[in-house]
Amino acid sequence: MAGNEQEQASGEGGVATAEETLSVTDNRTGESYEVAVTDGTVRAMDFREVKVAEDDFGLMTYDPAFTNTASCRSAITYIDGDAGILEHRGYSIESLCENATYLEVAYLLIHAELPTQAQLDDWIHEVTIHTYVHENIKKFVEGFRYDAHPMGILLASVGALSTFYPDAKQIEDDYERHMAAVRLIAKMPTLAAFAYRHNMGLPYVYPDNDLSYPENFLSMMFKMTEVKYEADPRLTKALDTLFILHADHEQNCSTNAVRGVGSSQVDPYSALAAGVAALYGPLHGGANEAVLKMLDRIESVDNIPDYLERVKEREEKLMGFGHRVYKNYDPRARVIKKNVEEVLEVTGKSPKLEIAVELEKRALDDEYFTSRKLYPNVDFYSGLIYEALKIPTGMFTVIFAIPRTSGWIAQWLEMVDDDEQKIARPRQVYIGEREREYVPIDQR
Ligand code: ACO
Repeated sequence: MAGNEQEQASGEGGVATAEETLSVTDNRTGESYEVAVTDGTVRAMDFREVKVAEDDFGLMTYDPAFTNTASCRSAITYIDGDAGILEHRGYSIESLCENATYLEVAYLLIHAELPTQAQLDDWIHEVTIHTYVHENIKKFVEGFRYDAHPMGILLASVGALSTFYPDAKQIEDDYERHMAAVRLIAKMPTLAAFAYRHNMGLPYVYPDNDLSYPENFLSMMFKMTEVKYEADPRLTKALDTLFILHADHEQNCSTNAVRGVGSSQVDPYSALAAGVAALYGPLHGGANEAVLKMLDRIESVDNIPDYLERVKEREEKLMGFGHRVYKNYDPRARVIKKNVEEVLEVTGKSPKLEIAVELEKRALDDEYFTSRKLYPNVDFYSGLIYEALKIPTGMFTVIFAIPRTSGWIAQWLEMVDDDEQKIARPRQVYIGEREREYVPIDQR
């Protein structure tokens, strides 16, 4: 930064031409600066050179909630919110849902390339043989109150895994990293199902290594006295597709938590526990439950016009509509909508689907919603599938955490390998008192 040279050093170690710079004049001093623009961004650290005096700390940027700050460079997930595009490692979400399984997508996210058949077979084998958890983890889950929220159980037990695999602290060791990735992807459905069975007061079902990843999860959730649990392949496929759709979504709140906590170089189990905690929040993982409640409140197609009027009066919100990034149809919602119909063919009609489809149609015909670019998001239809699969609402967020595990790990691996990353430690703008005299307690 600074000076009027034709070429400016870019923070990337590359060279930015004069056109790829930003000219800034500090009106406090009259000084002008040039800041390199790389990939449509300026480096916040470049502004530290903007000072009013030699001993000034320098200018900081202020961005609560990181609404306009890129925290990393990433090659995992691409989103174009205006065009409604989502790609993982360059492959569109639509094509992955159509052609791949969730475990194949998990491999892609982590290894950056689609696996060969032999690589995929090895990967599936590795994940499958690591689905069991230590018996003490089972006892640990048993220690929760009967009505403990399953997400609270999941959060605690993912963190507890770190004590069972102390070698995972060696985050520079490729073997340990790989094992943590395999174990987390393998054990997350087991922990999730144990949390559910605990809530239901039912005996825990151990993993069945003959079953596929989604089938095994359904078996651990719902197996009763039958010798072998068999799920309808259409339901297994629908669940696997939901897993693909939730695998990663770049720097969302929970992924940012995983990267932030992981930047302290803690083990990956502890870093992912932070991700689970962030996902637990209603602004992140809980909207699909709110959609079901809304459809219940609307009750019948006849009440839709009234409901939309109330939304326009700002007395209600159209849950499952709108997104911070997507200002177009969320591509994941499109895939899910197709899935709902297939699932309901197996499980029977849901009156809520009829309301949802009509609600969507009317909202998309209405200038109030189109002018605000409010389109269905991933949560608009996913709750209907979970409900049809007889999954209770308390488990919705837990099921979100299962596939998001592969995204969290991929992002964690990218972060620990990124030479530019340091411990995440934002600055603050201090607005409190200074230099006060301590007042003895009897004089206050
Ligand atoms: N219903 C009615 N109006 C809405 C909705 C909605 N669902 N979402 C946004 N709006 C309106 C806002 O009131 C605002 O109107 P105004 O400009 O007249 O004041 C305008 O649309 C722009 O909305 P913002 O609030 O600026 O959008 P923001 O990006 O901050 O919020 C959010 C995004 C939180 C997702 C919001 O759309 C929302 O609350 N949706 C419902 C909840 C939901 O479905 N969340 C799931 C998101 S997907 C996920 O997390 C996996």
